[in-house]
Amino acid sequence: MTDFHRYLRAKRTVDDRALDRRVVEQLREQVAARAADTDGPLWILEVGAGIGTMVTRLVEWDLLPTGTIHYTAVDLDTENVDALPGYLREWAADTEVTVTADPLTVEAGGRRIVVDPVEADAMAYAGQTAGCDLLIGAALLDIVDRDGLPTLLSALAPGGLYYFPITFDGATRFRPDHPADRAVESHYHAHMDAKPGGDSRAGGDVFERLQRANGVTLSAVAGSDWVVRPVDGAYPADEAYFLRHILDTIEGAVGAVAGGDFDVLNSWLARRREQVATAELVYCTHQLDFLGRVDSGIS
Ligand SMILES: C[S@@+](CC[C@H](N)C(=O)[O-])C[C@H]1O[C@@H](n2cnc3c(N)ncnc32)[C@H](O)[C@@H]1O
Repeated sequence: MTDFHRYLRAKRTVDDRALDRRVVEQLREQVAARAADTDGPLWILEVGAGIGTMVTRLVEWDLLPTGTIHYTAVDLDTENVDALPGYLREWAADTEVTVTADPLTVEAGGRRIVVDPVEADAMAYAGQTAGCDLLIGAALLDIVDRDGLPTLLSALAPGGLYYFPITFDGATRFRPDHPADRAVESHYHAHMDAKPGGDSRAGGDVFERLQRANGVTLSAVAGSDWVVRPVDGAYPADEAYFLRHILDTIEGAVGAVAGGDFDVLNSWLARRREQVATAELVYCTHQLDFLGRVDSGIS
């Protein structure tokens, strides 16, 4: 398993706590209504799908209607696409969910979800796709060029739904307080801003774009902040690993922006890593979830 795959697995419980449940309930209702109005199988396109954690969540949380569903899981990274079937098989072991190959199919609670893992760029794939019923992009819109949002939405049929949860929006906080926190946050966000498509305030940008886009309804928006903290002296599930991965990411990002000029970074990191080891560190970020639909189709 790669470090990134372990990170995505560890992120699952953090995301599960964070996702706004009112938005999730609306998603459930709107997907059910869409399925009732649609002839034939529902078609879900997930972009930036990683190793497939959203598929498992949709099943576990009972968010999908019964019947056959086609689920296209697009990711740019070959290793993620290759890892997806194994992740689903492992998740299903010792449960009542059945996962079979050729085609990769998840059967659970009267649903037959045929999953097609595809290695492709999200915009390129969406640009040559039409007629989807639900488009999902989780923790993605803060790392891709948001000028491509209309292209992503153009994959939807008229009346098709979009769900863009966990879109980062400008706050990275740690506790206990450390004198270098503000400087670390500011360098970390500067690194995000300098990347192609990156934006440390992407959530607000997406909010504005969805509100003013023609032919697009924004049905719900809500915060989905990550809050990672020790409970009874230990981090839940694999969340200590999640925190170590975040600290490694900050080390790379801040190091790239500030170079050797920011010599407090090493002592900040050492203190934060120590606090993970002793289960003292609290980590919070601000994110937004968006749910809506394309009214008339976007071309
Ligand atoms: C932060 S991860 C989130 C993965 C998954 N959605 C989740 O929440 O667990 C972002 C994912 O988007 C993929 N990605 C990044 N840029 C992409 C692009 N332009 N097209 C498709 N996938 C992309 C990455 O390979 C990675 O798997």
